[in-house]
Formats: sequence, structure tokens, C-alpha cells
Amino acid sequence: MRAHEHGQAEMDEDVMVDKARFELATSSLRTKRSTGLIYLPTSGDTAIDNRDINSSSLQPPASVQLLIAHAIGATMDYRQFIGRNVVSIKDLTKDEVECLLDLAERMIPYAKGEKRTKTLDGKIIANLFFEPSTRTRLSFESAAHRLGAQILDVSQMSATSIAKGETLADTIRMVDAYCDAIVMRHPYEGAARLATKYAKSPVINAGDGAASHPTQTLLDLFTIRNCKGKIDGLNITLVGDLKYGRTVHSLVDALMMYDVKLTFVAPDSLQMPADIVENLRNHGYDPRITSDLGEVIKDSDVLYVTRIQKERFPDPAEYKKVAGTYRIDKLALLEAKSDVIVMHPLPRVDEISTDIDGTPNAKYFEQAFNGIPVRMALLCAVLGGEI
Ligand code: CP
Repeated sequence: MRAHEHGQAEMDEDVMVDKARFELATSSLRTKRSTGLIYLPTSGDTAIDNRDINSSSLQPPASVQLLIAHAIGATMDYRQFIGRNVVSIKDLTKDEVECLLDLAERMIPYAKGEKRTKTLDGKIIANLFFEPSTRTRLSFESAAHRLGAQILDVSQMSATSIAKGETLADTIRMVDAYCDAIVMRHPYEGAARLATKYAKSPVINAGDGAASHPTQTLLDLFTIRNCKGKIDGLNITLVGDLKYGRTVHSLVDALMMYDVKLTFVAPDSLQMPADIVENLRNHGYDPRITSDLGEVIKDSDVLYVTRIQKERFPDPAEYKKVAGTYRIDKLALLEAKSDVIVMHPLPRVDEISTDIDGTPNAKYFEQAFNGIPVRMALLCAVLGGEI
């Protein structure tokens, strides 16, 4: 069982200002990933199917929109995303993912400041980060500025009335009244889905516990597509903390939309959760599972390396046992294909040596930059911008 499920996660002091208050504020969250159900006891312990609450009340469900689009022979239009929540990558179809990646491609000159737009002038985006972040928070902020929107920035729970005991539900109701879209990172799985229940504005999940990080996944797909020219047909190897790493959980959900070979490399105690592997097998994928990177590195087109998520270990002694297990360096790359790309959601600790930073294989800084055009695309799409 994962640390956050016990509510015992060792959280950063910035975030965990008052554990008792915090748990009270979020105590309505329990998730059950294997069934895709989220339980909200505050509303009478009602089980709500995720698929019923993916879309804004302004829009029919994505599947219905897609059927309509196909029926009238229309190509996908990013304006269909207006008002939509993005809580999980599973909220999107493959066509919708590709539509957002195409829009992100068009955002690149704006993301680099080579072109200017004010398409979201007058819009206000609340950036609620109840867990530490550099890339996601700042790239959302940069994306908003590049589109002409304004940002309400909350980067510490201690700076909000949650520290006084306000529930997440009430916090979301308030923030919703002050903005046009909510971007939220939270240490608890299910928090973003809960926020969609209390916000009329679109909610974008910027990472919830060990569960999901859909905007990271979009930028990961964008990076793979741009670096390799395709996603289908690739052999993609995920390395490191596959148990607690939300980026790899979301990425696997997305890669199931493509024809890829997957390999999972992790210490036995940090392997991909059984429910995710079972889901893959049920959908016809046969992931290779090993703890030996040397055995599989030569076959990989993409090496997606992750940090061991120290903050999610219930027992620090368990972290010490696995810290530093894998390290990709120039020597390791000698065994790999010459055109392998090395990705990492960052931050890294010591799992990628700086000696490969300057090689053509290292794509993690480009990947981090891609957060800006991808998040610009998403904000533009849900807030009705025009590019
Ligand atoms: N990749 C990622 O989510 O980084 P941050 O935690 O810095 O946002």
C-alpha cells in the first residue's frame, strides 16, 4: 500500500504545515485506482464514476463530441476543449491528445517569444501548488503570461486558510470565484478530481500524489514525437521508481493509445503497480519487467528515467535501500542505440550523470521547455483562446 493511502507520507515542511489540519481538510479523499472509482464521503459516500465527471457541464462527454465530429466528417478542433477538466490523461482520447500536441506545435514561436499573442487577455488562472514544484508551476505561469492571461499564484499551503482548517472543497469554491481556470498540484491522489466537483471553471491536474500528472504526459508525448518523428513502433523503457512515480503512471496510460513496446526497469520493491500491469495485459500489451537495465538498454529507443520519490516512502530506511540503484552515464550509453533519447521529468538527483547533458541523446532540458508550448495549448484550448 502506498504511503499517501495511509496518510503518513513524509511531506516537505513547506507543505505539511499542520498535518492534523491537513488530513482533516482532505479526509474526504479515498481512491481506488483498480476500479477507476473515486469516493467522496462528504457527499454521502457516493461512488462517482470518473468517466461521468470528466467534462464540463457546458459540454457533452468527449466520446459524444467525437462521435458527432466523425458523423459530420469534421477534423478535430481544439475549441471543443472549452471548459473541459483535465484530471487524468485517460480523460482524453488519442485524437484529442494528438489535437493538443498539434496545437502545442503551433505554440512554439509564442513560447519562445518570437511571436506575441494576447488571446487570453482578461482571463485569470489560479496556480494552486500544495506540493513543491519548479517546472510545472513556472511553465504554467510562463504559458499564461505568453497568452496574455494573469496568474493567481499559491505556492505554499501555509499561505492559505487551509492552514487554519479550511477544507479543500471550500478553498476550491473560493478560488473558483476569483478565476477562470484552476491548475492544482496536491499531495493526495484524487484531489484534482474532487476539485472538479466544487469548481465551475476548468480544473487541470498538475500532479496528485503518486497517481497522475497528465500535463507532464502531454509534454512527454510531444517530446517523443518531436525527437523520434513518431510514437508508434518505439521500444520505450521506463527506469527507476515505477511504484510512486506519477509521471510514469500517466505515461503508461497514454502509451496504451499507441503501438509501442514497453519495458519496466526498477528494483523489485519499486516496480510498476500490479493493477497498471494487469490493465496493460488486458489491453494486449506484454511489458517486459526486470530490475536489470543492462539486459534491456540495447533495445531501447527511449529511456525514460525517474527519480526515486523519497517523499512518498512511508519508511526512510526503505528509501535508503534503493537510493542510487540506477545511474545513466556515458559508459551506460555505450551499450545503447546511438539514437536513443534519454528523458527525465526532472528534478533529477543522481540517476542521470551530468556527463551526458551535452550529448545529442540527452533530451530532458528540451523536454522541460516543451512544458511551455504544451501548457499554452491546454490553457488556450480550455479557455477558448484563438491561435
Ligand atoms: N516534472 C515536474 O513535475 O517537475 P516539478 O515537480 O518541478 O514541477
